[in-house]
This record gives sequence, C-alpha cells and structure tokens, in this order.
Amino acid sequence: MYMVIAVFNQYDLKNVLEDLFENNIEGVTVSDVVGKGSFGLKEADNQPTDLVAKVKLEIVVSNEKNRETAMECIRANCQDLSRGAGKMWWIDVGGVERIRTGEKDTEALTTQIDKKIPNVPVAFTTAIDTPCS
Ligand SMILES: Nc1ncnc2c1ncn2[C@@H]1O[C@H](COP(=O)(O)OP(=O)(O)OP(=O)(O)O)[C@@H](O)[C@H]1O
Ligand SMILES: [Mg+2]
Repeated sequence: MYMVIAVFNQYDLKNVLEDLFENNIEGVTVSDVVGKGSFGLKEADNQPTDLVAKVKLEIVVSNEKNRETAMECIRANCQDLSRGAGKMWWIDVGGVERIRTGEKDTEALTTQIDKKIPNVPVAFTTAIDTPCS
C-alpha cells in the first residue's frame, strides 16, 4: 500500500478530483497548505520566507497500479510549463483500517458494492464505495 501526496495549485483541484473519480479513486484527503518550491523566482519572489497557498492531496491506494493511476490523474491536470505547478511523491503505508467494519489493508481500500451496510440509512451511503482507494 502506498500514500500519494501531491501539492499543487487550488485551481487544478476540481479537475483532479473528477479524474480520480472517473478512475474509481474516491478516497482522498484535501488540505489547504502553504509552501514553497526549490526555485521560487516566480511564485515567491525569491524570498526564503515567502509562502504560497496550495492544496495538498493525500490518497492511500492498495498497489502500484492504482498508485500510478492516481499520479497520472494529478500529472494530467496539473502539469504545465510554469514554475510552481506542484510536486508529488509517494510513501509506503504500514496499514489501513476501515473503522466501520474493521477491515484491514487492501480490503479496507476495496469496493463495497455488493455488501450491505448494516444500521446505516441508505441516504448516508454511496452507491459505489471507493473501489480502489
Ligand atoms: N522538497 C519538497 N518537500 C516538500 N514540499 C515541497 C517540496 N518541493 C515543493 N514542495 C511543495 O510543493 C509546492 C509546489 O512546489 P513547486 O512546484 O514550486 O516545486 P519546484 O521543485 O520548485 O518546481 P518548479 O521548478 O516547477 O517550481 C510548494 O509550494 C511546496 O508546498
Ligand atoms: Mg517552484
């Protein structure tokens, strides 16, 4: 299992989320962050303490294929020729647990399409629950 972490510009977020969803990746954490890159002539006016608002996406996926899918969704929507377009990286994840069911690791990251969810009103569930993330 892996966590893909990406920091990029807010205006790319909608397209990235839509692309992830189309590729069956629904589980994501989004944070507003500030940061700076390694060469900030444009975005930070070269001052070491100047920070720029970005969004950070965290996506835990079960295997390398889904990791590459997630990274391609980000790449395809954030890549441009300007500095400060963003950066992404990934790390190994030691374990995952779906709190509702106690399922672990890949099961905790896999589809619930055919499973009934007890004691939860239908209105509070999604029809297709996070097939691969
Ligand atoms: N090495 C890093 N570690 C952690 N966060 C980083 C790192 N590099 C960049 N970031 C984060 O990513 C954001 C975007 O970085 P940015 O796209 O400017 O990277 P860059 O390496 O400077 O590339 P570019 O030359 O295209 O500007 C930064 O504002 C910062 O939040
Ligand atoms: Mg930069």
